[in-house]
Amino acid sequence: MQNSPSTRRLAEALAAIAGDEQARARDALRAAGDDGALLAQALLDLLDEDGARTAYDRPAAFEAFIRGGDNLPLYRATSAALARLYDTLPAASLLDLGCGDGMALIPALQGARRAPRHLDLVEPSPALLGHASEALRSIHLPLEHLLAWPISAQDFAASLRAEQQWDLAQSTFALQSLPPAERRQTLRRLRPHVRQLALVEFDVPVLEPGSARYFASLAQRYERALAAYARDAELVAGGFLAPMLLGQLRQASRPSNWEQPVQAWLEELREAGFATVRTEALYDYSWSPAVLMLFE
Ligand SMILES: C[S@@+](CC[C@H](N)C(=O)[O-])C[C@H]1O[C@@H](n2cnc3c(N)ncnc32)[C@H](O)[C@@H]1O
Repeated sequence: MQNSPSTRRLAEALAAIAGDEQARARDALRAAGDDGALLAQALLDLLDEDGARTAYDRPAAFEAFIRGGDNLPLYRATSAALARLYDTLPAASLLDLGCGDGMALIPALQGARRAPRHLDLVEPSPALLGHASEALRSIHLPLEHLLAWPISAQDFAASLRAEQQWDLAQSTFALQSLPPAERRQTLRRLRPHVRQLALVEFDVPVLEPGSARYFASLAQRYERALAAYARDAELVAGGFLAPMLLGQLRQASRPSNWEQPVQAWLEELREAGFATVRTEALYDYSWSPAVLMLFE
């Protein structure tokens, strides 16, 4: 798969999509599909729909994605690191920004000896937030406070009152969904309300967007991720990976993801008023290494 003929053709197609060359993109996708590129058909289907779907419009696809492939060891490592954090701080109150369906949060709470008892969950997808709330209610956790906020992190931070305070805020793989200017404002607004902040994000390579190495890297990493799914490959490709990739390729016109290297996260958080406590490598994921960053 590493630079195979199918990923080379897929990379050509990605360059054409980014350049909005529709006919060339379709031809290259068909050729990549004939060569065995796993994501080619899902991208063709999405281009036919004008790419209107985003990565979180089909919660079932995202949920299948995070429950397969190397997401399983990734999430095990993430939840274990969060559980250790709850035990060492300790934190009585926790705010999770972009909690999804609780895939990282819930095992962390279950795995900790001193889990926070006051929880606030912020998640703009009502379906994912509903699943997280249901799962939390169905397991035995001695919670004293649980509030689910079906809004974005931006709206949540903009509505904060002085008395709303948390020992710890966490966000796993979610702040990459916020446009940088809104994210900086959100982090600055959050700063006076949280004692510590734990972020888990991918330490993505520094690649110049639009370069040949950039498209080759995207093609290889997406194909490697999808290859790990057998039964759910179609759902994961069409409902999550293809919309995510299309969003990345259309950064200029319709962007939907803003990940960055760890050094850039540390700098962004410093500018928002947070001091780095430590970073911890969690898992060498197929996409890029996952890193926990703790701030105070
Ligand atoms: C990759 S998922 C991670 C979910 C969860 N934290 C986990 O680790 O499984 C990204 C999450 O960010 C959420 N999200 C997208 N835009 C957001 C925003 N503006 N504010 C807060 N969360 C957002 C998505 O709905 C999705 O649940």
